Amino acid sequence: MTTIAVIGAGTMGSGISQVAAQHGYRVLMLDAEPGAVVRARMRTGERLAKAVKEGKLSATDREGILDRLVEADWADFGEASLAIEAVLEIMDVKKEIFSRLDAVLPGDAVLATNTSSLSVTEIAKATKRPDRVVGMHFFNPAPVMKLVEIVRGEETSDETVDVAQRAAQAMGKETVLVAKDTPGFIVNRVLMPLFIEAMRILEEGIASPEDIDKAVKLGLNHPMGPLTLADLTGLDVDLHVMDYMFNEFHDDRFAAPLVLRRLVRAGRLGRKTGHGFYRY
Ligand SMILES: NC(=O)c1ccc[n+]([C@@H]2O[C@H](COP(=O)([O-])OP(=O)(O)OC[C@H]3O[C@@H](n4cnc5c(N)ncnc54)[C@H](O)[C@@H]3O)[C@@H](O)[C@H]2O)c1
Repeated sequence: MTTIAVIGAGTMGSGISQVAAQHGYRVLMLDAEPGAVVRARMRTGERLAKAVKEGKLSATDREGILDRLVEADWADFGEASLAIEAVLEIMDVKKEIFSRLDAVLPGDAVLATNTSSLSVTEIAKATKRPDRVVGMHFFNPAPVMKLVEIVRGEETSDETVDVAQRAAQAMGKETVLVAKDTPGFIVNRVLMPLFIEAMRILEEGIASPEDIDKAVKLGLNHPMGPLTLADLTGLDVDLHVMDYMFNEFHDDRFAAPLVLRRLVRAGRLGRKTGHGFYRY
């Protein structure tokens, strides 16, 4: 059985751990906050119990998956051949994690980050093995979303890209290769201008949120309208990503509309606060 380490047991870390355990990996889970791993395992247990109830999973398989999710400490990581980091989106925090991972994982292990926007090349500088550092960008919810963007840093080797692609595929995912480490990778690079244009159409009084979303859903065959998706992601997160990309590219394509900034200042952060472009 292959052992991997997942650092961070929040939204993404718990989802990635679950999907890895479902595909036979033994997952060593670590989080800085006491009780976070226990809570993540509990949430996974509940999701899997629902799958058992619906006849999609056997009770024995559920037990097996939970048995493969193990709370661990840094000292246990010597057993892991791959680490996937999913902590806060803050460069200094990620660099500290990577420096520690570099010290405890075997020399040939691959160190992956689930960052949505930060530079893989910069994160890799915190290690003595930048050739073995790569981005594995999962999407939320990780057990459901099919895609993993594999992000190549300036020094990432072909072999490391291959290890990351094979690991994602072994977890039942489809991969795309982001051959240059650039802000937003592929998906957010396409998504942010779409969000921005939908918000501008609203701002200019051209159409209601409902009609903007309906137009994109039915006219472009998207499963969800852009304003609904922006609310779902969290408007604070959307604004953060736009500001980051605007600062990196110095390009108006990524300039956050005022309507978004006003909503975030008012604490209307989308679905998680019950009110964004819509009320929930
Ligand atoms: N939420 C999403 O939709 C999404 C999608 C793709 C990628 N990401 C990326 O995944 C990463 C995690 O995002 P999230 O939404 O799961 O965040 P989250 O806040 O839900 O979870 C982060 C976890 O990291 C833990 N943590 C913080 N500092 C730590 C440290 N020094 N050591 C160990 N654990 C630490 C926290 O206690 C928390 O449990 C970020 O880089 C984010 O950009 C998020």
